[in-house]
Amino acid sequence: MELSVIILAAGKGTRMKSDLPKVLHPIAHKPLLGHVLDTASGLDAKQTCVVVGHGAHAVKETFAARTVTWVEQKEQKGTGHAVQQALPHIKPTETVLILYGDVPLCTPSTLTSLVSCVSEQSIGLLTVTLENPTGYGRIIRDHENQVTGIVEEKDATPGQKQITEVNTGILAISGSHLINLLSDIDNKNAQGEYYLTDIFSLAHQQGIQIQTCQPEHSWEVSGVNNRLQLAGLERIYQLEKAKELMVDGVTLRDPARIDIRGNIQAGHDVEIDVNVILSGDVILQNNVKIGANCSIKNATICSGSIIKDHSVIEDTIIGKDCTVGPFARLRPGTELLDDAHIGNFVEVKKSVIGNSSKVNHLTYIGDAEIGTGVNVGAGTITCNYDGANKHRTVIQDHAFIGSNTSLVAPVTIGKHATVGAGSTIGRDVGNNTLALTRAPQKAIDSWTRPTKKPKGETT
Ligand code: UD1
Ligand code: CA
Repeated sequence: MELSVIILAAGKGTRMKSDLPKVLHPIAHKPLLGHVLDTASGLDAKQTCVVVGHGAHAVKETFAARTVTWVEQKEQKGTGHAVQQALPHIKPTETVLILYGDVPLCTPSTLTSLVSCVSEQSIGLLTVTLENPTGYGRIIRDHENQVTGIVEEKDATPGQKQITEVNTGILAISGSHLINLLSDIDNKNAQGEYYLTDIFSLAHQQGIQIQTCQPEHSWEVSGVNNRLQLAGLERIYQLEKAKELMVDGVTLRDPARIDIRGNIQAGHDVEIDVNVILSGDVILQNNVKIGANCSIKNATICSGSIIKDHSVIEDTIIGKDCTVGPFARLRPGTELLDDAHIGNFVEVKKSVIGNSSKVNHLTYIGDAEIGTGVNVGAGTITCNYDGANKHRTVIQDHAFIGSNTSLVAPVTIGKHATVGAGSTIGRDVGNNTLALTRAPQKAIDSWTRPTKKPKGETT
């Protein structure tokens, strides 16, 4: 049977105390609803309907690039009413999985086993047993342990409140049963709402079986109602990502002190020190070492390269056996070829640094192409911007740039050329040439330094 997913996301999220709709608050830099949408697409759903209400405009705008069937629930009259709004898009012949925009971490494997409970004779219901079930709908079973219905906390008798098996809200059902059962619910209950949960007692009365299954981990069904729960789920998500890396052969100095906000591919014997943030698409090949407090976004780091403490790297490709940092900043468009060295307080932007070239101290390299075996001295600056346009600097193979040099682009330094320390170079330097623009040194003999005037004396 084909699968349609309905995601409920119309609620207000009052307890977030935020102008941002609840489902747009992020875990690992991705909105809660984004996690649920990704899970749905991983299940090969033919269609995903999202029921929106509060903040509908912002929610739709955030996911404008995705193929989503948006359904508006103008007034929030309960979960049953919310699902009813999506029914025009549901065919009787398909299986429907109901998820929640504020329950972000349910795993595909749990949902796949839930969906496999669905047939013409049975509904799949995801339940969980909690030490403290307060606030949740309780699962009612008969003496044969068959589910006969769900009772909401506010409608439960003291006896029913003792039940610790609760409704997660997540369920899977055939379209035909969903359409029929939802047409029979009413709002005669303590909250005056149309409860989705009422379909279970109706199903039981009609002889439809309710098959329950449980998630592997209870956090899979945890929802976000406030920022404490958001932070709690963020930590759970991060620990799971850290475990995946360790299973793949990565050493983490402390699995509780790494944040992964994207897709990481790592080879074996990669070592990552504490407080590292990896975002976007990051590839770490074998034997890469990342020092403490590094932030790395959209980067490929080839085997054997070492990123030392406090480096910030974005949209960069780093070849084999390079060293970067400590305190280096590699900005978008940087490419280091094999064995290149970037040292402390060096910023590189939109530049290629050739094989075995060294830029070791206090330097800015922007819009430059640096060849093989080049040495760039401390304090070198490529003056790439004239206030209106950017210009390129080319430093050819085996050139040597003395310390404290300004290279005023556009400019080319030839092969094996040497630039004397302290020079300002605005014209091309030929191959094997020494260029320097240093002012001649003066010497004034027996120079007497000024002395301080005694206190109280006026000038
Ligand atoms: C619901 C279940 C309860 C279950 C609990 C799990 C019902 C009647 N009760 O209770 O059995 O234990 O979830 O967390 O279903 N929503 C809409 N439109 C509405 C109402 C809700 O889109 O009109 C969305 C909310 O945004 C939220 C979700 O549905 O994401 C659950 O709604 P909520 O009001 O929090 O239900 P609970 O009372 O927690
Ligand atoms: Ca809730």
